[in-house]
Amino acid sequence: MHAAVVRDWATPPRYEVFADPTALGEHEEVVEVLASGLHPRVRSQAAGSHYTSTDTLPLIPGIDGVGRRADGTLVYFVLPDTNLGALAEQTVVDARRLVTLPASSDPVLLAAAMNPAMSSWIALRDRLSFTAGESVLIMGATGSAGQLAVQVAKHLGAGEIVVAGRGQARLDLLRALGADRTIDLAGPLEQVAADYAARAAEVDVVLDYLWGPPTELALPALLQARRDRGRLLSWIEIGSVAGPDIALPSAALRQANVHFLGSGQGSASTAGILASLPALVEELSRGSFVIDAVTRPLRDVEAVWGERSQSSGERIVLVP
Ligand SMILES: NC(=O)c1ccc[n+]([C@@H]2O[C@H](COP(=O)([O-])OP(=O)(O)OC[C@H]3O[C@@H](n4cnc5c(N)ncnc54)[C@H](OP(=O)(O)O)[C@@H]3O)[C@@H](O)[C@H]2O)c1
Repeated sequence: MHAAVVRDWATPPRYEVFADPTALGEHEEVVEVLASGLHPRVRSQAAGSHYTSTDTLPLIPGIDGVGRRADGTLVYFVLPDTNLGALAEQTVVDARRLVTLPASSDPVLLAAAMNPAMSSWIALRDRLSFTAGESVLIMGATGSAGQLAVQVAKHLGAGEIVVAGRGQARLDLLRALGADRTIDLAGPLEQVAADYAARAAEVDVVLDYLWGPPTELALPALLQARRDRGRLLSWIEIGSVAGPDIALPSAALRQANVHFLGSGQGSASTAGILASLPALVEELSRGSFVIDAVTRPLRDVEAVWGERSQSSGERIVLVP
């Protein structure tokens, strides 16, 4: 078969001939891959920098996708940690990690949207019991996951939705998806801090895709402006595009009732993640959420790797 293969961590995957995968375990089977998303998680996997990475090479990256089983049925699959990933003509899936899809499904849409959409879907439904009417701040709302988070929060009945990201024009576009207020992180820091205080101090939940300096700025600005500091604020760490660490002042934890938690592979159980997926597939298939998906041939993987997305929120899907 052909596959995108990483042979050294500093070089993008190359399109190569690779040995056909074989199913070995009780629940394993080989599927024909129809589409797989080039998510940030896939880039970090291919660079050896994700927290689940091992040192083993060669590696075919790709963590999920849409495939066709030997009997012709379509499935959305989530791969376990493996060196035989989804950016290939075939991959080995675990029958317990599949969602069967209707024949009319759009493989590109599902391959693009499932990973970014499940970040907020699982955070709001499984990591805490989000209640309709509660308000949400989305940090990093301009990306694919952030844009889907706006839609997922709206779908789950969020009260006010505040979006923070770089660029007022891009933030304004999120109003059509359900955002009520915007915070432009590209402005002067004092202005950004003042905007957090004025526009986001009363939220119930923060979905944080940024971490790093933007979170260090937001946290005190928001906590100190809260009218009732005893009211619970749940701060869910989901991504770290702006930095892997923050300095957390001890006072922040004393001066307001803020609970930090994370949502991702490990903090959410595999069984819990899998149980949440059929309902998400259903919503995506019925058009409840939109994503800007761009299809590229897998054979161009090396060139695609070096490209920046044309617009923020665009998700590349590689098709064998
Ligand atoms: N835990 C989970 O379940 C889960 C699931 C999916 C994704 N994630 C993680 O969530 C994060 C976002 O994923 P994604 O799919 O949305 O990625 P994406 O589509 O690449 O979007 C990233 C966004 O972050 C913005 N950004 C980057 N640095 C920034 C900064 N310093 N300040 C403000 N905005 C900044 C980018 O905008 P610019 O154009 O301004 O750079 C872009 O809009 C990633 O870390 C990903 O791994 C986690």
